[in-house]
Amino acid sequence: MEVNKIYHSDWMNNNLADKSVQLIIADPPYYKVKGDFDFVWKTFDDYLQDVERWAIECKRVLADNGTLYWYGDAKNIAYAQIIFDKHFNLLNSLVWENTNDHKQQIRFNTDLRTFAPLTERILVYSNEMGWDTPLSLVYQNDNCFAEIKEYLYSETEALKMTWKEINRDLLGTTFEGGGGRAYNMLSRTRTRWDFPDEENYKKLQKSGRFQKSYEQLKKEYEQLKKEYEQLKKEYENMMRPFNNERYYGDVIRIPNYETGSHEHDTPKPEKLTREIILISSRPNDLILVPFAGSGTECAMAIKENRNFIGFEINEKHVNYGNKRADNIKAQPSLFAGS
Ligand SMILES: C[S@@+](CC[C@H](N)C(=O)[O-])C[C@H]1O[C@@H](n2cnc3c(N)ncnc32)[C@H](O)[C@@H]1O
Repeated sequence: MEVNKIYHSDWMNNNLADKSVQLIIADPPYYKVKGDFDFVWKTFDDYLQDVERWAIECKRVLADNGTLYWYGDAKNIAYAQIIFDKHFNLLNSLVWENTNDHKQQIRFNTDLRTFAPLTERILVYSNEMGWDTPLSLVYQNDNCFAEIKEYLYSETEALKMTWKEINRDLLGTTFEGGGGRAYNMLSRTRTRWDFPDEENYKKLQKSGRFQKSYEQLKKEYEQLKKEYEQLKKEYENMMRPFNNERYYGDVIRIPNYETGSHEHDTPKPEKLTREIILISSRPNDLILVPFAGSGTECAMAIKENRNFIGFEINEKHVNYGNKRADNIKAQPSLFAGS
């Protein structure tokens, strides 16, 4: 499918390949809250049947290390969560508080007789449990760095020395317990394995010269380190992106200045959308926007150097959203990511 385009179609008719999108930002109809599109179901059960179909389709197209954001109304989101929990791994139930002054004035409405409804919810899901461990734990996966571990292990194994002897005679450490530093660096089965630092690697290399018939660890340290860094990068890219440097807790306070604009009843804030994109995707990733509306998520994807595929059933919004994204394409921001 051509990317960076909003299609005039029910998103369920997409031609996306399985596991082809890294991020889904779904701002669906909430059911009888706001906008004509919210009132097309006869009953709530009918609506929930669609939510189930949507969840299954999200599951099909999301990459294993992908992330799904699903917006919802505070009162109804629980029903969607029960459905999505069956298919995905819930990371957060975010609370988005709209801090726009106009919204905050509801606080002072004495007729309400309830707490003022200032928030919406965003369910954040990952796809495969296996990719959700912190990076340090992924490195403990037995298969990680297998070639480098094998090289270090087999080359030093030929010395026929115990860990203790390697520690004492070659590395000059006085660790008397188990395997110590040698074990951390040279074992191929060690889960908490440490890539050797230059000093220790060179000590081992040097020691080989004393072994008349065997000259071990011929690879230059710089070369080995390069291979290590390359693999590390590959492992990092395999993980679900999550940019911890954005410093958010699970309550996000961002005003919605877009209310009443973009010829749409419920546009989401550009700032909130950009944060989601920056936190949960990498440059050039493909973002699926199933309910494009006025195109906020699509336009912000372009602004942050990501690709998108959007769907929208209302032609007026399709045209608006495509123009909105095109305008951003025409003026690439110097401030992407700021
Ligand atoms: C809550 S709005 C999205 C607003 C959007 N986040 C924005 O910032 O403008 C939901 C949109 O989904 C559209 N829609 C509803 N059902 C759809 C479907 N099955 N496929 C594609 N779009 C759909 C509606 O027309 C509506 O514009």
